[in-house]
Amino acid sequence: MGRVVILLAAGEGTRMRSDVPKVLHTILGRTLIGHVLCATESLSASERIVVVGAKSEEVTAEVLRYDSRAKIAHQERRGGTGHAVRIALEQIDCGDDATVVVIAGDAPLITGHSLDRLVALCENDQVGAAVLTADVDDPHGYGRIIRDPENGILRIVEEKDADADEREVHEVNSSIYAFYAGALKRALADIKPNNAQSEEYLTDAIEIIRASGKKVVPVVADDYFEILGVNNRIQLAEATAIMRDRINLHWMEAGVTLIDPPTTFIDATVELESDVTIKPGCQIEGVSRIGRGALIGPDTRLFNCEVGSDAVITKSECDGATIGRHAQVGPYSFLRPGAHLGEGAKVGSFVEVKNSSIGAGSKVPHLSYIGDATIGIESNIGAGTITANYDGVAKHQTVIGDHVRIGSDNILIAPVEVGDGAYTAAGSAITENVPPGAMGVGRGQQRNILGWVGRKRAGSDSAKAAERAGNEEKGVK
Ligand code: UD1
Ligand code: CA
Repeated sequence: MGRVVILLAAGEGTRMRSDVPKVLHTILGRTLIGHVLCATESLSASERIVVVGAKSEEVTAEVLRYDSRAKIAHQERRGGTGHAVRIALEQIDCGDDATVVVIAGDAPLITGHSLDRLVALCENDQVGAAVLTADVDDPHGYGRIIRDPENGILRIVEEKDADADEREVHEVNSSIYAFYAGALKRALADIKPNNAQSEEYLTDAIEIIRASGKKVVPVVADDYFEILGVNNRIQLAEATAIMRDRINLHWMEAGVTLIDPPTTFIDATVELESDVTIKPGCQIEGVSRIGRGALIGPDTRLFNCEVGSDAVITKSECDGATIGRHAQVGPYSFLRPGAHLGEGAKVGSFVEVKNSSIGAGSKVPHLSYIGDATIGIESNIGAGTITANYDGVAKHQTVIGDHVRIGSDNILIAPVEVGDGAYTAAGSAITENVPPGAMGVGRGQQRNILGWVGRKRAGSDSAKAAERAGNEEKGVK
């Protein structure tokens, strides 16, 4: 015995109206086919084979990203779901006593739990197949389940081939099945394309297996949406909303506070520790991990970020950043790939950081650009400071030591180093290294041209104000 999974993904997905193959559209950080592959994990199948057709190279690459040992079967022309399963089986060495699970690649909401139920029922001597079904309000477009008097399945009839009574049935076929391999193989050899679409319907296998004396049993999905197929952008949005709710529920049960779940989008690939709080309007994406007690949001997007415990990130965008324990970011900051904030570091408002590390306890509180820089511990970067890392040809490093005080509105022209404990004067353009403990002053000497406004802007409000100030000084009323 063993288990084999066949995923059907050769459809063109024309209703998506997209250059991207249908199964490569994404829902919360995973492609449709990626979600299906993940759901099949719990089956511990010995083989997974994916039937591809249109744009097969892109689909193949995505499948192999999830499972480098997956097999690919090419369906050159659309011959129907039965044809697709037949060519998949031809490519694998599958004994008659194996269980074959067939799943449409466009059903991203299927759960491992339902697949386990399906397989458990099928792995019984008298059963030839188990079919996942659902009761839906609107069965339009689906194959209808025709039950026998013992509540098994007699056959499945496609809508295009159904009569008026059959169309009234609200129990529909999910296109997700578990088969006893021997029965499936024999049935596939007998399927004929005698139907409205001239295709080999996999659904016809059900009637054939029944006629051979084995039972076909239905498994009704816990939620109808587990079987929701994504065929257009409207269904893509529906599936996204359902997946969002499902992921949010999971994290709330795991001890995460979500202030407003409907506006919180957490990718399937994210990990959160307990006592994280997420305020409204956040997207936590990619391979992001957030530590215990962190406070995220409102209106924050994190993509591929590592966030330490008790960090606070407010109204900011962070991509590929590591944010240490107790660190603070925002409001309104932008951390780009390679931004590393040490424990208790602070990046305040309107600050952009790229490929730079900011040491423990150091602060960049206001209106700065920090790029290709290393800042030691407990240093303070004055408001409006910029590292000029790019000379138009190459990027250069700025190195700032520990306990440094950079004055407000500095421009640090890289490559340049400011040693431990050094200060720089406000408004400096720092072009030379500043040794440890020195005060770097990089600005012109100020000069005042007395009486300039009175001479050059005579009669202006400024000149009048200046004159009043001069009179007051002289004691004139
Ligand atoms: C199919 C079922 C229907 C069920 C519905 C559920 C059949 C005949 N009908 O109908 O009973 O209610 O799914 O969504 O099986 N595919 C291939 N090669 C083909 C044809 C299809 O790989 O030659 C793939 C598609 O990419 C898709 C899946 O099989 O992933 C289902 O095909 P689709 O055309 O969507 O079938 P439906 O008409 O929706
Ligand atoms: Ca479909």
